[in-house]
Amino acid sequence: MSNFVGAVSAPGLVPPRSGEPGADSLPGRTERPWAARLEEALDDLYAVRPDAAVTRQLCALAELGDVPAEVAEQADRRLHSALIRPVRYLVDAGGARLRPRLLLAVIDLLGGDVSRYTPLAAAMELMHTGSLIVDDVQDRAILRRGRAPAHAVFGIATAVNAGTAAYFTFDQALRHTVPDDVVLRAAVTETCLGVLRSAHAGQGLDLEGHRAEMDAAVAAGCGCEVQHLVRLTHRLKSGAPVRACMETGALLAGAGEDVQAALGAFGETVGVSYQVIDDVLDLDGVVRGGTATKRAGEDLFNGKVTMPLAHAVDLLEKARMTHLWKGLRDGRAGRRRVAKAAETLRACGALDASRSEAFTRLRCAWQRVEDLVEDSPKTRALWTLAHQAVSRQLSA
Ligand code: IPE
Ligand code: MG
Ligand code: MG
Ligand code: MG
Repeated sequence: MSNFVGAVSAPGLVPPRSGEPGADSLPGRTERPWAARLEEALDDLYAVRPDAAVTRQLCALAELGDVPAEVAEQADRRLHSALIRPVRYLVDAGGARLRPRLLLAVIDLLGGDVSRYTPLAAAMELMHTGSLIVDDVQDRAILRRGRAPAHAVFGIATAVNAGTAAYFTFDQALRHTVPDDVVLRAAVTETCLGVLRSAHAGQGLDLEGHRAEMDAAVAAGCGCEVQHLVRLTHRLKSGAPVRACMETGALLAGAGEDVQAALGAFGETVGVSYQVIDDVLDLDGVVRGGTATKRAGEDLFNGKVTMPLAHAVDLLEKARMTHLWKGLRDGRAGRRRVAKAAETLRACGALDASRSEAFTRLRCAWQRVEDLVEDSPKTRALWTLAHQAVSRQLSA
């Protein structure tokens, strides 16, 4: 059973049964050996204490040159403090480790060697963590994983630099896991660099805010265009990273192009659907084990056009929608207005429309995978993992 108060029910789908593979295990396993290996791989890449080998990796230098030993030790401490501590701070606060799990589940499904590629899975988690740190600066977040966000603890400049540096952990993990196959390494590198570009484009659109498009939609009483814009943003900022994990898994396991494409498309939909539900959960915040992990209403306070708001355009009478949007668009709404806006969105069916869209798209994307990949416990485990991720039933 989920420990998320915000766990979401999926319309038209039978929820996964407790104990079904995929929730806390890779396919076919009941214990979590992958989890311990993943934490070890995280420690290898981002050691909890200053470490000379990690310093060289962070600096992309084979050796530091003729610096005295005490200067080298000082550099170890400084770089640990500047680049690793802010990221470890958030990694150690938990998280469902969704991206590594999906990468490893795809490799397992396609007959690859899961333990060999764990370092790359760890790099995916570090990249994701880096993007959360930067996103929290951009969104002026005050809570992440139940803690103050990294920038509030380490300062904005350090947080942004550490978050960005974490994007560059994949190449060393990749060299380590694929030392001899230059062509495969190039393919995975292209995938990882491509997703970094996509994700920044997505954050760019998100930060632009879609306000003019929302003005036009509200004036016309038609949400179709702004919904498309929100979908594109979600696809880039949240769909692309999950696509990259699943595509990388397929590449490493040597899958054919059609399977790669279907799994990549499914991954993208997992990321988009996850983000749509993230938009829905923003209204109440996410509570885990009785503790709030994210601030409720952050998007509404920031005047963000989320999927529920975009759906509301088609569901609310025009005068009410105009009033709702006018109160939010400049990001200056206070608590009472935000609470009222959340109530209006819930009552008009915008949350149901968003949930329905998320789960319908997930099911459609899965059908393409089902057509290509033979049914097996591992196939079903991948579906369960994805479904539980979107409906927030994965334990952290
Ligand atoms: C951006 O979306 C998440 C990333 C892709 C980094 P949000 O800004 O909605 O994410 P949360 O709500 O802060 O987690
Ligand atoms: Mg955010
Ligand atoms: Mg954001
Ligand atoms: Mg959000």
